[in-house]
Amino acid sequence: MIFRSNLKPLTIDARILRELRNAKSHSHVTNCELSERCETQPGKIASRIAALREAGYEIEEHPHFGFRLLAAPDRLIADDLAAMLDGCTLVREILVFQRTDSTNDVAAQLSRSGSAEGAIIFAEAQSAGRGRLGRKWDSPAHEGLWFSILLRPKIPIQEWTRLTTLAAVAIAQGIESVIENRAAIKWPNDIYLGDKKAVGILIESHAGENGFAVLGIGVNVNQTQFPGVLADRATSLRQFTGHVFDRQLVAVAILRELDALYPKMRDRFSEIVAAAEARSYLRGRKIECEFAGRRICGVAETLDENGALILRNPDGSTVTLHSGEATIASI
Ligand code: BTN
Repeated sequence: MIFRSNLKPLTIDARILRELRNAKSHSHVTNCELSERCETQPGKIASRIAALREAGYEIEEHPHFGFRLLAAPDRLIADDLAAMLDGCTLVREILVFQRTDSTNDVAAQLSRSGSAEGAIIFAEAQSAGRGRLGRKWDSPAHEGLWFSILLRPKIPIQEWTRLTTLAAVAIAQGIESVIENRAAIKWPNDIYLGDKKAVGILIESHAGENGFAVLGIGVNVNQTQFPGVLADRATSLRQFTGHVFDRQLVAVAILRELDALYPKMRDRFSEIVAAAEARSYLRGRKIECEFAGRRICGVAETLDENGALILRNPDGSTVTLHSGEATIASI
């Protein structure tokens, strides 16, 4: 099943959720206020509140004070996400699949059928979630965030590699705002909490006349365990902090950061590079990296103006890595 919600204009349900969520210190909103602010008939409010309750929202009704949101279901709801992202310029529509193969593939299909930049595709579960280098990405239902964003960057295609740094900074900042702790960027595509990976980024660019890029993001949010070898390498926000997170709030925090940073990709990219540097997991560490068919070993230094990693060789010379898979050297 797919649920879809546009941001412009917001649906009635999205407007009701926006008003209930915006109510100061979770206070009540009267039917009259809701119908005015949502631009709909008071009778319609009552029926939509009933539908929202049916979908799992706990909404209290007081005879004088009106409605109050007590709790939201632990599900990704397109209208609710749209409501919380109201005001973002990048985000245009939200699609939520209960299950799909890979949200990156859905985004690519949408792009080919003419969808505009800013379509966000979430899946509660993916049956063929993939990571970089053809790896499988574990995407269990209702435990994490598996989503993709359709982008059509208005910068020369050779600069689209900047998307990696931009995404990493937006995700790290979004996560930091919800966990109230530091997130590190392991160049180029991973977000680490402590010494374990919590987020993977998969950007797939499709050049051509109607070129587009799909930014795929996998966030381990509420898992309490990981299968097989992942147990030693992966973590979730919950494992790292000891708290359960509202996945929708995590998604909104990331997308709001992305919305704020995306316009800086062209002229103010140095700010994004600086933010990435400040969160570097590799800086000063001895690493090994596969680059242009060669295995390179050296100490990770700064990032260049496009987000490429500068590596210092044992002989003192430097090499700039534009992409690759870095591992911490064992010696
Ligand atoms: C990696 O670390 O190798 C990248 C993992 C990217 C996973 C996300 S989940 C949403 C999107 N759909 C996919 O199939 N992959 C990305």
